Amino acid sequence: MADDLAYLLERKPRASLGFFPTPFTRLDRLSDMLKVDLWIKRDDFTGMNLFGGNKIRKLEYLLGDALASGCDTVFTYGATQSNHAMQTVAACRRLGLNPILYLNTYVKPDPNDVRSNMLLDRVFGAEMHILESRPGESEADTEERCFDLGKAHAARLESQGHGCCDIPLGGASPIGSAGFIGGALELTRQCTDGGVDPSFIFCATGTGGTLAGLTAGYRALGSKARIIGVAVSDKNSEYETKCSNLANASLAWLGSDVKLDASDFTVERGYFQPGYEKPNFAATEAIRLLARTEGLIADPVYTGKAFAGMLGWIRSGGAPMGSTLVFWHTGGATALFAESAIVGDLSSEI
Ligand SMILES: Cc1ncc(COP(=O)(O)O)c(C=O)c1O
Repeated sequence: MADDLAYLLERKPRASLGFFPTPFTRLDRLSDMLKVDLWIKRDDFTGMNLFGGNKIRKLEYLLGDALASGCDTVFTYGATQSNHAMQTVAACRRLGLNPILYLNTYVKPDPNDVRSNMLLDRVFGAEMHILESRPGESEADTEERCFDLGKAHAARLESQGHGCCDIPLGGASPIGSAGFIGGALELTRQCTDGGVDPSFIFCATGTGGTLAGLTAGYRALGSKARIIGVAVSDKNSEYETKCSNLANASLAWLGSDVKLDASDFTVERGYFQPGYEKPNFAATEAIRLLARTEGLIADPVYTGKAFAGMLGWIRSGGAPMGSTLVFWHTGGATALFAESAIVGDLSSEI
């Protein structure tokens, strides 16, 4: 089955951006402390520069496809501190594509103190269009306005002879998720080589592209490992169906006839509060624990909340004592240097 999946993935255009396979190591001190066998998949090391993360796997297929389709310009979307937007811009620069961002403000940036991913977007010289919510407009409506303006902008450029590629929020498309079908194959091979047989794999889930791809990959490989997505923002009851539709579309794009349904997905919704880009105590505690026992860094928006969710499963017995777990580190460390409304309490001396 692994060979079949590898064959399907190899047939697709792929831009070489990251460093793969990413490291896979055991967290010895945390394993002893928590009485489990805990491993970490280091997708914070995907590259392509210092600030790697999960989007690089998606972008290899998304931009590989964009180049194969003759595009010269790439549009994408997200919050002003979006990791996806920043990584898309970096990848476009590497490939000689022109990146254009339409960003909405969950946390309002200070124009005199531009930080974190927005600062990097500027360093990379991306064309940025920043939309603030109008009075009475929800964040989702502002996001829609970004998509509409991006599409209109792309249409104008296309009428002038440019080839434009539109990458959705988080790179969550059938093509993007294929990167994580490849990720599932990569980790499965590392586990087989190392004699590791995980029962649980935890990752942060936002747009769902990572979770969809990983779950699709594991099911296509016939693995029984349970993939648990820890939500980093509010998700309605349709989220599992949305993820299974994305997983199926990604498998179909590759040419696989494996099919998933909503029951293949586990989403932990207890750790995102009070909301996206809004810190909480459990994530702050989890970031400190990982840093102080293993010398590793998680971030307040994604991996800190996901790590907190995994700790919750271990402490409540959802992942029983002695079980083997993998924490899939999806990157995002730049959030530690974002606005204080995003960083939260991490700087206090505790
Ligand atoms: C660091 C990090 N982790 C996890 C995620 C969630 O991934 P997905 O959007 O594929 O659900 C993101 C998405 O932006 C991210 O930047």
